[in-house]
Amino acid sequence: MERERWATRLGFILAAVGSAVGLGNIWRFPYITGQEGGAAFLLVYLLFILIIGLPAILLEFVVGRRTDRNPVGALKQLATGPFRYIGYVFVVTGFVILSYYSVVAGWTIRYTLIGITDGYSNAIGEYEADAAGLEDVSAAALLFDNIATGTEAMIFHAIFMAIVIFIVGLGIRRGIELAVKLMVPAIIAITAVLVAYAYTLDGASEGYEFYLSPDFGVIASDWTSILPAAAGQAFFTLSLGMGVMITYASYIGEDRNLAKDSAAIIGLDTLIAFIIGLVIFPVLFTAGVTPGEGGVGALFIGLAEAFADVSGGRILGTIFFFVVAIGALSSAISILEVVVSYAVDELGVERMRASAGAGGLIFLLGLLSAYDLVLLDFFDLLVDGVLLVLGALLLAAFIGWQQSDFAIDELGKGVKDLGDWGTTWIWMIRIPVLIVLVVSLVLGILDYWEFLTEDFSAWLDI
Ligand code: TRP
Repeated sequence: MERERWATRLGFILAAVGSAVGLGNIWRFPYITGQEGGAAFLLVYLLFILIIGLPAILLEFVVGRRTDRNPVGALKQLATGPFRYIGYVFVVTGFVILSYYSVVAGWTIRYTLIGITDGYSNAIGEYEADAAGLEDVSAAALLFDNIATGTEAMIFHAIFMAIVIFIVGLGIRRGIELAVKLMVPAIIAITAVLVAYAYTLDGASEGYEFYLSPDFGVIASDWTSILPAAAGQAFFTLSLGMGVMITYASYIGEDRNLAKDSAAIIGLDTLIAFIIGLVIFPVLFTAGVTPGEGGVGALFIGLAEAFADVSGGRILGTIFFFVVAIGALSSAISILEVVVSYAVDELGVERMRASAGAGGLIFLLGLLSAYDLVLLDFFDLLVDGVLLVLGALLLAAFIGWQQSDFAIDELGKGVKDLGDWGTTWIWMIRIPVLIVLVVSLVLGILDYWEFLTEDFSAWLDI
């Protein structure tokens, strides 16, 4: 059967932007920025996007466009030795990542509905009496606990997965491309409205100050945590390390300038993350919430509290959580597409069936994360700290050192005159990108080990 293609260049770009923009920009980015010292972190992060993110995204693009295959097939075609199996790492990562990503996405649907039905102050108010009896636990935190796990969390996880399965099942043009052409402009438009609103809040200037004026002393003193955090965030936000961009590039029909497309995609992803920060920090400072308080629930708890407090918070909050839900949806689609393209190409399964089958299994795995947050951490840390970095590392090492000729050749297609840029690019991958990845992997594994031997084994003992 003829392989499906994106109908338009814009369709491809928007799909890649849709994949990139998600919980990583809206939930992870502000939270990590808050934790790592605000503006100083922002600066390092932007630098990493350029020197690490750009070379790495191009790598996935050339592999996808050249081979016209899903990641498993693509690597089998290019490699002979053990590198043949990198694609399987991607598919496994896809299963794991989507299982808990969908649970978090379910929370965003839930928080959107709260805005529509009760409003945040009423919803939190119901827990006020319980919280009064406890030390150090706010009513907003109790609300979050109630939403995050249990039957309701499972139901919203199911609803979210059903939508993802349906869109991916429809295919590239009728499903993914159409969906992102609606969703990405909506995300941009709604975020712009939120920025204007946040500007009017009392805490706006304090928020901007924290977010935008860097304290270089922080970089000097905390670089051991800032650097890996910035690298990890750069990979996560650009959807790198599990073959999403290989898969999306395999549906490109003609040769056009991949460097230009990448610049557009990275630019839009960064812009959206940046302006989300312009919303979140004013909101948090206005409500007197400290940015970057720990835990997966931080953003949900902090923002619900803030939306309950600031004037117009109910509307602002409803719209905000709705944007997060759409962003999560267009990212989740890209993750499932990796698994589905593998099943369709390599195993010959019909598309809608592949989507329902893979999505169904992912849903089942996700029930664990919806059952207990420790399990969500168990998967998130594994993906974030280990699997994504491992996937990116294997690909960079393989293409950078073994297949650089093909990569430079493919990069040059659709470009008038590549000059020495191809060589520069490969050397960026061979040394700086690989160093960052190796360091991140080591730190990630240590981190995960600590989690397994402490929090996780403590939990198992119960
Ligand atoms: N980039 C998405 C976000 O920011 C998440 C995501 C989608 C992702 N696909 C991915 C992350 C693949 C890593 C790998 O939310």
